[in-house]
Amino acid sequence: MSERTVITFGTFDVFHVGHVRMLQRAAEHGDRLVVGVSADALNVAKKGRPPVFTEDERMEIVASLKCVDAVFLEESLEKKRDYILEQGGKVLVMGDDWAGRFDWVSDVCEVIYLPRTPSVSTTGLIEHISSLG
Ligand code: CTP
Repeated sequence: MSERTVITFGTFDVFHVGHVRMLQRAAEHGDRLVVGVSADALNVAKKGRPPVFTEDERMEIVASLKCVDAVFLEESLEKKRDYILEQGGKVLVMGDDWAGRFDWVSDVCEVIYLPRTPSVSTTGLIEHISSLG
């Protein structure tokens, strides 16, 4: 029987426990987990600021996790379907902050939204650390 590859996407900046729990739970939906880490330029375009850690650093951190089998750089948000096909993704897992917004790829794979870990986010951490002065 062929391997069931799970794919997920994210920035994973200032890596925190919400990230690790999402990746561990995503991995449970198949045999192999591939993670698309969003490019620095994509974050600048999307959020108006570069991530704290560079794309190379963020990919290195995510790739070091036991539950992650491979990482790649996500350079365009519009190419989700192409990335899923290229990586052989059978299941797309996203946090429920994206609920419904990736249903358009359900013609090429199963789409699952998992609940986020409450009370932690990269944005919150950056604000918290900045407030320490
Ligand atoms: N995630 C999660 N629980 C959290 C934070 C993130 O499950 N508390 C998940 C997201 O749903 C996504 C992945 O981790 O599937 C990567 O999220 P990312 O956007 O990189 O992290 P955030 O902390 O949400 O970043 P930001 O505050 O910049 O939006």
